[in-house]
Amino acid sequence: MIASTSESPPSASDETEVTSISVTHMPDKSIELVLGFLACSSPRGWFEAALANKESLLIDHANCEKKAAANAINLITRYPGNTELLIKMSQLAREEMLHFQQVVTILVKRGICYRRLSASRYASGLRQHINPDPEQTLVDILIIGALIEARSCERFVGLVPVLEADGDRGLARFYQGLMKSEARHFGDYLKLAQSIECVNLDHRIAELRHIEAELIISADSCFRFHSGMPS
Ligand SMILES: [Fe+2]
Ligand SMILES: [Fe+2]
Repeated sequence: MIASTSESPPSASDETEVTSISVTHMPDKSIELVLGFLACSSPRGWFEAALANKESLLIDHANCEKKAAANAINLITRYPGNTELLIKMSQLAREEMLHFQQVVTILVKRGICYRRLSASRYASGLRQHINPDPEQTLVDILIIGALIEARSCERFVGLVPVLEADGDRGLARFYQGLMKSEARHFGDYLKLAQSIECVNLDHRIAELRHIEAELIISADSCFRFHSGMPS
């Protein structure tokens, strides 16, 4: 599940070149593990909203990549003594910024102007549950990082056939490449969480997994990459 070397997803330039590559819908083993980590699947209605709000989907996707890189750099700053974290987060930050660059390239090709977009409730809804006890804070941050990467992966897995059916094979292929990266990032966060002394890691994972699922299946008036059930 956790690759030791980085793997770049298809270039955004592939987006307009894909004409005959068959997009497989069968997730590989590492992605099946990611999907099994989550307490619920995304509601069908979210994927329908994604097709209807593709511009917001892409802009918010770019925002998510940028925030993922910023979060990794923030961890490097806060925990300079954790060498494994420094190495994994510096690799992750580089990859997330590459993804940001690729999504921005897609926005440009589609004539979509990258602009500020309000954040969804998702990340803040998870982070408000971070335990302020310094002994527990990092474990919670890492579990939440794993959950966010897992949900991103799950959304890419679900978006690929939806986009393909809609005739958007370029974006489908791009997202198929990204799902593997997000699965690897999930593994990186989870492994870091498991490397820290924690009284009951499994119990804490179960608690945060439940909170994450609530944010996904409950009604949400604002469509974003990680938003809940459209209302
Ligand atoms: Fe990413
Ligand atoms: Fe990621």
